[in-house]
Amino acid sequence: MTQQATTQPVAKYRKDYQSPSHTTSDIELYFELHDTATVVTATSQVKQLKDSTTLELDGEQLGLQTLQVNGQDWTEYELLENGLTIHQLPEQFELKIVTQIDPEANTALEGLYKSGGAFCTQCEAEGFRRITFYQDRPDVLARFTTTVEADKTTYPYLLSNGNRVDEGSLDNGRHWVKWQDPHPKPAYLFALVAGDFDVLTDNYTTRSGREVALEIFVDKGNLDRAPHAMTSLINSMKWDEERFGLEYDLDIYMIVAVDFFNMGAMENKGLNVFNSKYVLANEKTATDTDYLGIEAVIGHEYFHNWTGNRVTCQDWFQLSLKEGLTVFRDQEFSSDLGSRAVNRINNVRIIRGPQFAEDASPMSHPIRPDKVIEMNNFYTLTVYEKGSEVIRMMHTLLGEEGFQKGMKLYFERHDGTAATCENFVAAMEDASSVDLKQFRLWYSQSGTPTLDVTSEYDEASQTFALTVSQNTEATHEQKEKQALHIPFDVELYKHTGKAFKLIIDGKPVSNVLNVTESSQTFVFEGIESQPVPSLLREFSAPVKLNYDYSDEELVFLMRHATNDFARWDAGQMLLAKYIKSFVADTSKAVVLPEGVIDAFRGVLLDSSLEPAFIAEMLTFPSHNEVSGWYKRVDVDGIAKVLKAIKQVIAQALIDELSATYYSLTQDGYSIEHTEIGQRSLRNVCLGFLAYTEQGNTLVEKQYDTSSNMTDTIAAMSAANVAQLACRESLMADYSDKWKHDGLVMDKWFMLQGTNPASNALEVIRDSMNHEAFSLKNPNRIRSLVGAFLNNNPVQFHSKSGEGYQFAGEILRQLNESNPQVASRLIDPLLKFRLYDEQRQVLIKQELDGLKSLDNLAKDLFEKVTKATEE
Ligand code: TRP
Ligand code: ZN
Repeated sequence: MTQQATTQPVAKYRKDYQSPSHTTSDIELYFELHDTATVVTATSQVKQLKDSTTLELDGEQLGLQTLQVNGQDWTEYELLENGLTIHQLPEQFELKIVTQIDPEANTALEGLYKSGGAFCTQCEAEGFRRITFYQDRPDVLARFTTTVEADKTTYPYLLSNGNRVDEGSLDNGRHWVKWQDPHPKPAYLFALVAGDFDVLTDNYTTRSGREVALEIFVDKGNLDRAPHAMTSLINSMKWDEERFGLEYDLDIYMIVAVDFFNMGAMENKGLNVFNSKYVLANEKTATDTDYLGIEAVIGHEYFHNWTGNRVTCQDWFQLSLKEGLTVFRDQEFSSDLGSRAVNRINNVRIIRGPQFAEDASPMSHPIRPDKVIEMNNFYTLTVYEKGSEVIRMMHTLLGEEGFQKGMKLYFERHDGTAATCENFVAAMEDASSVDLKQFRLWYSQSGTPTLDVTSEYDEASQTFALTVSQNTEATHEQKEKQALHIPFDVELYKHTGKAFKLIIDGKPVSNVLNVTESSQTFVFEGIESQPVPSLLREFSAPVKLNYDYSDEELVFLMRHATNDFARWDAGQMLLAKYIKSFVADTSKAVVLPEGVIDAFRGVLLDSSLEPAFIAEMLTFPSHNEVSGWYKRVDVDGIAKVLKAIKQVIAQALIDELSATYYSLTQDGYSIEHTEIGQRSLRNVCLGFLAYTEQGNTLVEKQYDTSSNMTDTIAAMSAANVAQLACRESLMADYSDKWKHDGLVMDKWFMLQGTNPASNALEVIRDSMNHEAFSLKNPNRIRSLVGAFLNNNPVQFHSKSGEGYQFAGEILRQLNESNPQVASRLIDPLLKFRLYDEQRQVLIKQELDGLKSLDNLAKDLFEKVTKATEE
């Protein structure tokens, strides 16, 4: 018997949090695995926490077979649409529930499902309720013992959390393995995997001498793509000991790579399940970006063992407690191992582009949301990336030492429990005596603050006054905004390039100013000449900055700022000035003054700079980021200007770009950071040169001679963006070579999705018939359809409305098969108010079409209703 949702979804509010009526100390699970009829027996030791004889359990799409209390069949229960309510219970009891589920029919990839030939689970946020009836909430922590039983030949590996404690064979060709996890955990960290794999093994000895077996499970034949993941895991374990003093706490750490996965990866205790995209790599199949992504995600899931698993969340509104903090930790890991500046730049690009856009959209929410209909909708850039910026601001205010003291206190207080964001801030505050009272507002206030900064130099008194005003515009669900505590990192430069000492009221002050009022003035003393201010250094807060820089000042900062991030940011501001002026009048011919071109020439020729950093300086703001500057977006105008600026630079610097391109030729391939940087700069040069006369020849030659995926994809991407004659033949050759490998074909699907040609949609529809494509696989959908909706602005927003109709078609299909993926895909449509009337009407038609479906999933319901209400 399965249940169907029939009533309107209801919202949950953070303020309504109630601690649980009961808790489970131990749960014993027995899985009899069968493709369409798996039987799950759950035996829990339950005890009352509040004076209540009624227990409410969550459960979805479950067939209830048996319900017993203390060994007796129990009839005092009601089966509800989304759960089970049991009555007349004693204070303490053993609860036995047998349910039947259908993993093969599970296309939502939540709960127990089949990925290719293997069984696997995904329980965060609320997937465990699709496995058995349970208190599926993060503040119920139990010790799990799990026995997995399946056919021995098809499923030789049977895995779950913790340590393997027993195993055996049955006489019907089946076998079983029993696992015990000594650490109490919420149900969302439960995992089970059964299948046939190749295994890469290694081991790690922790600082205190614990021997840990490391095992990475991949599809048969993929063993040569697993070593980078293993190296990344070992580096993560080492780094967390060195920087945070945190050690691993079990004797085994397993990672399983699966092809069907809704997100990046999942930190299940001792048994991470990964999207194969974030495990598999060798130089023939993966780009440098893929390699770095694997390092970051392996690190992220490993770091969750302390920030997420040892200390988990009281309720899902606190999600950023584990995610913001763990993103901060993985960013620091990548920065310590690679280039700090390049990492910072790329993280800031994400905040300024998609995160700012999200925070200005109907889905805008604080990093700790107050109201949720579908929790899966809140695994957002705001909770993760802005959440990490909020942690980073505390790090800036406390310093590394103070911050680490705060972490220590946090674990002392909360290890083994379910905590809140408030608990974290309190630990930071108590350990450092930095007052974070006003700072806490970052957790409850949504939207992006704007800092308007003006300056006044007074030669007579040798003072420089900076006036900083902050303002946060109303967001969809929060009209009133207050002044935030904003750490504002500044430096003032002399014309020699040296920085003035910062003195206020006769006392030296830190570079990090505390902006706390809606408007305040900082007067610096002893400033002997008009300085050039460097503002919001390191992007010390996730805010928009307005300051009326002259071109000369920005060029000066590009050359002289002491910190790489500030140099990059000056270059971006300089470009922004010109992009804005050309977008304001698209009939104007795009020309850049010599001084601007010279500044970029200087960067390209500066041998003191790392190639990786030069590549970032020469990477211009994306269409999405530029769109975020406007209340009404001129899609075609922005595309035209961005392309023209690239062409202008390409023509003006053709000799230098060409010389750099040839000078960076490599012999072999290695994944060292300096080599990654060289490839990155070389391929940025290729991207410009694609617009010149030699473009087609050069790109074709690079594709033909490339020995690694990074250079191959760079060539194809240059051909795609500049619409070169060779594009079709390169695409055909690549598909020929890789058509049997979905993961490698994702790069090809992404190039089809972002194809700027006017027949793009037609080609995309054809690509859906490619043998490697499947609407059941989230990676394929994101690569082709996601790329089209998010990164092909001109074709997607075509005035014919065909792009929108296509999005609508796909969304209606995914609404039934995989609502979680549908709900991520719909985001660009929610922002329809950014476009002209004609486009608004067309997009709204698709949203209304979805709204009228009688089986609209909660995920889409929440977003569509928010977007369409006035
Ligand atoms: N907690 C996971 C992480 O941050 C992400 C996650 C949340 C997830 N929900 C998921 C992964 C659903 C897969 C499916 O690493
Ligand atoms: Zn995470």
